[in-house]
Amino acid sequence: NECTFIAVKPDGVQRKLVGEIVRRFERRGFKLVGLKLVRVSEDLLREHYWDLRTKTFFSGLITYMSSGPIVAMVWQGLDVVKTARKMLGETNPADSLPGTIRGDFCVEVGRNVIHGSDSVESAQKEISLWFRQNELQCWDPSSSRWVYN
Ligand code: GTP
Ligand code: MG
Repeated sequence: NECTFIAVKPDGVQRKLVGEIVRRFERRGFKLVGLKLVRVSEDLLREHYWDLRTKTFFSGLITYMSSGPIVAMVWQGLDVVKTARKMLGETNPADSLPGTIRGDFCVEVGRNVIHGSDSVESAQKEISLWFRQNELQCWDPSSSRWVYN
């Protein structure tokens, strides 16, 4: 079953959006399989955003992401990678529709409150970068048969 890596960035934690964000994923019908509040090393963040290493905003991005605790999560479900990206909105909050997380809670690309994996492959990489296997729970939500037919 497909999983994605979602992180409430330091601004999202400071702005007390954790509950709201978890709520949206729960209510959509996705299954929480991992969750922790962490401060990670700049090395881990550089690896996480490796594809952006040549961008002018890269060092600012690493500073932003290491400026406070992050809530790291793994969510599982049908097409969760693609659906989560839709729930997040566009990279730039100015382009994000109301109803999306970025479209409802932020205004600037450099403080866009949440991360979501952009493909199934990057989700797998990110989950193994941020979580140990024993931090992920296999469980059977009693609501499954009301979410899936
Ligand atoms: P993530 O879910 O965080 O990976 O965002 P994304 O996949 O929508 O965008 P991308 O991976 O291209 O960029 C990663 C993050 O870098 C963004 O979420 C922003 O926080 C930051 N970022 C991207 N573009 C810019 C930019 O032009 N300026 C600044 N300051 N930050 C940017
Ligand atoms: Mg990205």
